[in-house]
Amino acid sequence: MLDFIQGPLVSISIVVFILGLLFQVFQFFRLTRKKEWGNPPLPQPMKPEKKTIGQQIASWLSALNGTLWKTDPVLTVVTSVFHILLIITPLFLLGHNTLIRLSCGWSLFSLPESLSDGLTLIVLICGAYFLGRRLFLARVKAITTAYDYIMLLIAIAPFLTGFFAYHQWFDYETVILLHILTGELMLISIPFTKLGHMLFFFLYRFFIGGEYSFLRGSRSWSW
Ligand code: HEM
Ligand code: HEM
Repeated sequence: MLDFIQGPLVSISIVVFILGLLFQVFQFFRLTRKKEWGNPPLPQPMKPEKKTIGQQIASWLSALNGTLWKTDPVLTVVTSVFHILLIITPLFLLGHNTLIRLSCGWSLFSLPESLSDGLTLIVLICGAYFLGRRLFLARVKAITTAYDYIMLLIAIAPFLTGFFAYHQWFDYETVILLHILTGELMLISIPFTKLGHMLFFFLYRFFIGGEYSFLRGSRSWSW
C-alpha cells in the first residue's frame, strides 16, 4: 500500500489531473451547441472618442468600480498572492524537482529552499485568512457549507504537510506519506470538484464573456 501511494499513485494522480481537465473542456463544448439560426448583423463599433491622458487614467480607474478591488481590497491582495504562490511554489521546489529529475531526466529550475519555505508559509497564512472569513464573517459564513471547508482543506493540506516535512516536525516518514497522499488528493480532485474553477474561471470569463462581446456569439448555452 505504501509503495503504491509513493509510486504508481503519483503518476496516476498526474494523469487523472491532466485527462480530467481535458475531459471537462470536451464536456464544456459538447454540452453547448452551435447555433443553428443566423445571427442578426452586429452593430458596428463606434469610433472611440479621443481622450486626454487624464481622462484615460480616470476611465481606467473607473473600470475598478464594482470590482472586488473596490469592495474588498484586502481579499483581492490575499487571493492574488495565494493563487500565484499556489502554482509557483510547488513548480519551483527543490524537493519536487529533484524527484522529477530522477524520474524524467529533466526538471524546472528550483528556488532556494528557504525562499520556497517562506512562500509556503505565506500560502498557509492566506489559507488561514480564508478559513477565518468563512468562520467569523457573518455574510460569508451564511453561504458556507461543509463542502467549502473540505475544498479549502484539500487546497491547503499539501502545503501544511510539505511545511511540516521540510522542518522535520513530527515523524518524518508519516508526514511525507501524508504529504504525498494529500498532494495526490488535490491533483485528482481538481477536475471533478469546485477546484475545477482553475479551468472554468478562464472558460467563463474569456470564452462565454467573449461570446457576448468581441467573439461572434456562435454557441448556444441552453437546451
Ligand atoms: C503528488 C506527489 C507529491 C510528492 C511525491 C511530493 C514530494 C515532496 C517532497 C519530497 C518534498 C520535500 C520535503 C522535505 O524537504 O523533506 C515536498 C515538499 C513540498 N511540497 Fe510536495 N509533493 C507532492 C505534491 C505536492 C503538491 C500537489 C503540492 C502543492 C500544490 C506540494 C507542495 C509542497 C510544498 C509547498 C513543499 C515544501 C514546503 C516547505 O519547504 O516549507 N506537493 N514535496
Ligand atoms: C489558475 C487559475 C485559478 C484562478 C484564475 C482562480 C480564481 C479564483 C477566484 C476568482 C476565486 C474566488 C475569489 C476568492 O475567494 O478568492 C478563487 C477561490 C479559491 N481558489 Fe482559485 N483559482 C485558480 C486556481 C486554483 C487552484 C489550482 C486551487 C487549489 C487547488 C484554488 C483554490 C481556491 C480556493 C481554496 C478558493 C476559495 C478560498 C475560500 O475559501 O474563500 N484555485 N479562485
